[in-house]
Amino acid sequence: MWPYPKLIAHRGGGSLAPENTLAAFECGVSWGFRAVEFDVMLTKDLVPVVIHDDKLGRTVAESGKVCETLAADLVQMDAGSWFATKYADSRVPTYWQVLEFCSLHLIWMNVEIKPAKGLETLTGKIVGEMTRDFYQKLGTPTVHFPLFSSFEFDALAAAKLAAPDIPRALLYKRIPNSWHAELRQLEAAAIHTNHRNLTHARAKQIKQADVGLACYTVNDLERVKVLQRWGVDAIFTDRLDLDWTLV
Ligand code: G3P
Ligand code: MG
Repeated sequence: MWPYPKLIAHRGGGSLAPENTLAAFECGVSWGFRAVEFDVMLTKDLVPVVIHDDKLGRTVAESGKVCETLAADLVQMDAGSWFATKYADSRVPTYWQVLEFCSLHLIWMNVEIKPAKGLETLTGKIVGEMTRDFYQKLGTPTVHFPLFSSFEFDALAAAKLAAPDIPRALLYKRIPNSWHAELRQLEAAAIHTNHRNLTHARAKQIKQADVGLACYTVNDLERVKVLQRWGVDAIFTDRLDLDWTLV
């Protein structure tokens, strides 16, 4: 039940490049990664952009909120200096740019829909529509369709309505007992969860239900081996530089 790569570069390039920038995606490719996870939210003018925090300041050298900033302004801002001065030219990419990059490089995508508070349904709808339009233009992708995920049920429900053919994964910090009911409601294909809160028993339940299971963010090979023994299908990692041939 996991047709995708088993190793996924978290936020594009993990800890080796400024997260969620094209430089990060290039870094992932250069380390041989064939799969990537990134976060998408809406600007003030409802353009989906690839960024993790709803507030500027940590990765973008400005203040304010993404949902209160116009896309044209956001994409001018420095999104790389916080990481290293050589990345001062890095910018927040639009979701469309990242779709193009990953399609060109045959990189499979886990698109994490990360709405600002109150914008859950709208973000899911717009990301769903854009993804659907992208593949209508492109035709069938050479690698699998992306997989949507979100901590927000309503965002995934809206994405399902807009793009029913793009599969979905429920994203949980800790998997609740209601996981199976929620999975059925969304007709989701997988569960993504924080590996620290996963138990062997829960992993077993999920695998017995023939549901995909992926864990974030695992940066230690011994822990990866344990999770693999539990049946975990895929790992999100920041450590692109570990010797992944060992697992
Ligand atoms: O999608 C997995 C993981 O990225 C979820 O947490 O905060 O890194 O987006 P976060
Ligand atoms: Mg994420």
